[in-house]
Amino acid sequence: MKDSKFLRALNLQANSKPPVWFMRQAGRYLPEYQKVRKNFSNFLDMCKQPKICAELALQPIDRFGLDASILFSDILTIPDALNLGLAFHEGGGPKFSNPISSPQEIKKLMPFDVNNLGYVFKAVEETKNLLPKDIPLIGFCGSPWTLAAYSIEGGGSKDFKKTKNFMISHPEELQEFLEILSHACYEYLKQQVLSGVNALQIFDSWADLLSATELERFSLKYTRMLAHLLKKDPITADIPIILFEKSPNKKMVDILFKEITCASLYWQEDIQSIAKDFEGQYAIQGNLDPKVLLRSDELIWAETQKICNIMKKYPGFIFNLGHGITPDIEPSKVQVMIDATRQ
Ligand code: CP3
Repeated sequence: MKDSKFLRALNLQANSKPPVWFMRQAGRYLPEYQKVRKNFSNFLDMCKQPKICAELALQPIDRFGLDASILFSDILTIPDALNLGLAFHEGGGPKFSNPISSPQEIKKLMPFDVNNLGYVFKAVEETKNLLPKDIPLIGFCGSPWTLAAYSIEGGGSKDFKKTKNFMISHPEELQEFLEILSHACYEYLKQQVLSGVNALQIFDSWADLLSATELERFSLKYTRMLAHLLKKDPITADIPIILFEKSPNKKMVDILFKEITCASLYWQEDIQSIAKDFEGQYAIQGNLDPKVLLRSDELIWAETQKICNIMKKYPGFIFNLGHGITPDIEPSKVQVMIDATRQ
């Protein structure tokens, strides 16, 4: 396992070919996923079936022979476990029936009990049982900020107006909530590690809602708190941590800190200049624009090789997309991308 290309890259060891996996690799673009998905009207009900989660996590591994697997679940399991009432209805995104609409609701919040997420830890065990022994499994959570944004907004939104209003009107209560979420994420990731995951990824998918100052105050402070907790704990101290920041209003080199092993770059980031800034201190994962996968095979091949060539000499490079794959992408296009990384 330690010799897997993915874990080698996270340890800044060179590989002759870059390891490849991609965000949302299990999902709606795969016909085999759709076949399972149609048996559930609420996506969350499917996430609560550990054997099904394991089957879904394995689908892209079986089809493409990827170098890492990611737990099949969602970042919103934590707010659901805090009783915010999550559902994913037909065709729509996530919706909370009981969102955080006032500071009082933060005070009244039930204490987080990691045992409410036992279905996730069972899914980790089931997935480990099915995975080839040399393929690492990535566990994950949302950043405290991203989880707070969904919890206050009550679901997805274009501008997250309610969340931004809450931030301006009640910054201290928001910070209390972020601290609760940081500890919840720590316990959640620790249980994932105890159940068998080999690396962790933190998704700060709503980093782009924040100015540089706000990013520091409401997001990075709590991601650091979470990473410190993990590194202080002997159970999780040696597990590599990957951080994904979506379009942050700050340079990646000013965002990363020593507890983080690897930066997962958004597709708009300039991988070449970031590789220079990092001077080999952090592994880098990224960052093909997923929209390239809607174009011709020739273009996919060229764009993939461009990134691989830039990163050829960088120890600790993992090929990935610069954000999740979308349902409109043909699996055959993904195969072209993977073949290009292995040339
Ligand atoms: O292979 C994998 O990566 C599967 C595991 C996974 C899912 N969600 C499954 C999923 C992971 C790692 C996530 C992370 C996640 N979830 C993020 C962070 C990554 C990112 O894209 O920035 C976020 C923001 C969410 C929240 C979420 N989950 C939304 C907004 C939605 C609905 C819109 C969408 O993109 O589909 C989901 C649903 C979801 N999570 C699906 C899957 C496969 C699709 C559900 C369906 O089949 O209806």
